[in-house]
This record gives sequence, structure tokens and C-alpha cells, in this order.
Amino acid sequence: MSNAVRTPFTCYMPDILGTMTTYHCPRDGTRSPISALTWCCPVCRGPWDLDFTPSPGLALHVLPGRANSLWRYEENLPLSSPEVSLGEGRTPLVPLTDTVSAKLDYLMPTLSFKDRGAVMLAELARRLSPDRVVADSSGNAGTSIAAYCARAALPCTVYVPEGASPKKTQQIRAHGARLVAVPGGREATALAARAAADEPGVFYASHVFNPHFLHGTKTYVYELWEDLGGRLPDALVVPVGNGTLLLGAALATAELHALGLITVRPRLIAVQAEAVSPLAGAFRVGAEDLLPAAGHGDPAPTLAEGIAIPRPPRARQILAAVRGSGGTFLTVSEDEIRDAQRDLAARGFYVETTGVACWAAVRDGSAYRPGSVVVPLCGAGVKTGMAG
Ligand SMILES: Cc1ncc(COP(=O)(O)O)c(C=O)c1O
Ligand SMILES: [Zn+2]
Repeated sequence: MSNAVRTPFTCYMPDILGTMTTYHCPRDGTRSPISALTWCCPVCRGPWDLDFTPSPGLALHVLPGRANSLWRYEENLPLSSPEVSLGEGRTPLVPLTDTVSAKLDYLMPTLSFKDRGAVMLAELARRLSPDRVVADSSGNAGTSIAAYCARAALPCTVYVPEGASPKKTQQIRAHGARLVAVPGGREATALAARAAADEPGVFYASHVFNPHFLHGTKTYVYELWEDLGGRLPDALVVPVGNGTLLLGAALATAELHALGLITVRPRLIAVQAEAVSPLAGAFRVGAEDLLPAAGHGDPAPTLAEGIAIPRPPRARQILAAVRGSGGTFLTVSEDEIRDAQRDLAARGFYVETTGVACWAAVRDGSAYRPGSVVVPLCGAGVKTGMAG
């Protein structure tokens, strides 16, 4: 059961955020006020989207002098004037080759792009004043939520699979979060966190189910738009597990286009590890959702553990976003991941194994025109070390 069952979700009183903003279900249109702490649609148990339209006003000339963080795009964010920030965003864009540039999201406060979304969830949680925050992730999302809850002085519990990497659990504990190690892998961990999330007074800081996370990750594209002087590259190459960066990128390009701030939308090129590629498989056969045979239970081992998600809850949205952009899916082998990590390190970039997948997919560059592709290097090498 989700909290929605206990909380009237058809009430549209202005909520604690001082707005009429609500969650809605993209599948069946069910709505819930944000203040209800309802973490999923009570009808289909799917993830929420957010009713949000940017206010007019964003333009390149209004940006100089604003906060040197992702909060500079305030007209286009569902929350503004945050009390919670670690100075996230504004990561460098540097050329790798004539064709491909890299955006260094591994230089974020907790060393991964997840900070873009985690700061939104922590700021929202602070405003909603829950008894506690829960999250589940063995990786970068969990560490990021733990750090931002520390910054917001919110009590936080992070569920991780037993056997999660000691470096990551150390970081979660260091930020003062309570760590619960769950036997039985990722699925069991998600179930344990969701059971906790159903308890009254709990805010589930889910990077998958809570759409505020996507309104944070979309700032990756707003920064590119600003850095490129009001345009976007032909192709945005993005790693996809649960698709939070990809869906954030799709949101940003739709918003920028609707506001007349770009005329041409980039193609979204989604990258998965060959070993765990349920979305690439569905895309290849023209399916609108995961194929029934897509893996249940824990995924096959891959060096790109951060994108090893066998059944992403936002699969339909991810497939539609890639198709709608005229993009495609690419997959990379374990050898290609290993080589790409070595190659980036040899160029001076120390990047974790998941964070090199996009470079592995497009480093040849021959399919693209000069200066037309951006890849995120989105997690720091110190998190995993070298694969070999
Ligand atoms: C470094 C890195 N890259 C990519 C991803 C994939 O993000 P998503 O699951 O939102 O697609 C993750 C997720 O943990 C990650 O840590
Ligand atoms: Zn629903």
C-alpha cells in the first residue's frame, strides 16, 4: 500500500509548497497533491510525473550574475530559492575529439550527476518536514541522497543490498545516514525501502518514482544550452539504467523548444551495457514497453553496474523519448567499457566504469559531424577504481 491509500488524493488545496502543483500518473491520469507523501500512483503503482510548466523569462542575457549552480535556471525549476545546496551544477564542457565533447559531471559535490536530482528531493523533503527520509540504492543515488539529507539536517535511512561496495556504504554512513543492508539483491532492497516508504510520515526520496529528480537532472541540458550560446549539440549521448538523465534531457529539450529557446531538438542516443539491455532490446523490435521476457530478479554482472537495471519502471517513457527525438539505442560490451575507461584515464579523465559507457559507444565518432556530440562523464573513478 502507498501512503495515498490513507491520504485523500483528490483534494487540490494549495499545498505546503504554496502552489497548486500536483503529481499525476502518465498512465491513467490519477492525481495526488505533493504534500500527501504519496510515492507512487495508487491505481497502477507506477511512477509519478509532475504538473509543471516553466514561467517565461529564461534567456541567455538574464543569466550573468546569477548563482553559479544549477539554481540559476530558476524560472524553469519546480522549486526555487533553496535552503539546501552544495553548489551543484555548472560542470565543465571539454572537447575529447573533433566530434565529441565531454561534460564532466563527475565533478559534482558527491562525484556523480545524481546530485542534480538529489538536491531537488532534499529541498522538497525539507519543505514537507517528514519524520524521516528513505532511499534505496547501492550506488551514486544513495550516497547523493545521504549527503543532501545531511546538508538539510533530515534523518535519512538508505537501504542497500547486502554486499554493496564498501566505498559507497562508507560514504553513506559518513554523511550520517542509517544504513540498512538487505539480503537478497536489488529487488529485495527496493521492496524493503518501499515497505518503509508506506509508513506514515516518511518521504521516499526515490530517484525513479519522484519526478522532482528529473527536474533536477534536466539542468544538465540547460547548462549545455547556456555554454553553447543558446543551442544544443546534434546528439546527446546518455547512459540509461532507470533513465533519470535521459528523461531529464528529454524534459529540458521539450521545455526549451516550447519556450522558443531552441529551434532544433537534439537526438537522444541512449546507451546500455550489452549484458543488461532490456530497453535496447525493446527498441530494436519496435516495442513501446519492456518485452515480457526482460529480466526479473537481479541483473547479469557488468562493469557498468549503475545502468544494470533489468526492468526500469519508466521504460515506456524512455522508449518514447528516444523515438520521439529521432535517436536510437547503442550497447557496449565489457571489453569496450574496459578500453574506454583506460582511454579516458590516458587522456586525464578518471571516470568510474558506468560513467565511461557513453564514450565507449561513440568514441569512434565516424557517424557524426565535427563538434556535434556530447557525452557525460558522470561518475568519478575513485568510486570504483580501474576495471583492469
Ligand atoms: C555513473 C552513473 N551513470 C549512469 C547511471 C544511470 O542512471 P539512470 O539509472 O538514472 O539511468 C548511474 C546510476 O546510478 C550512475 O551512477
Ligand atoms: Zn497510475
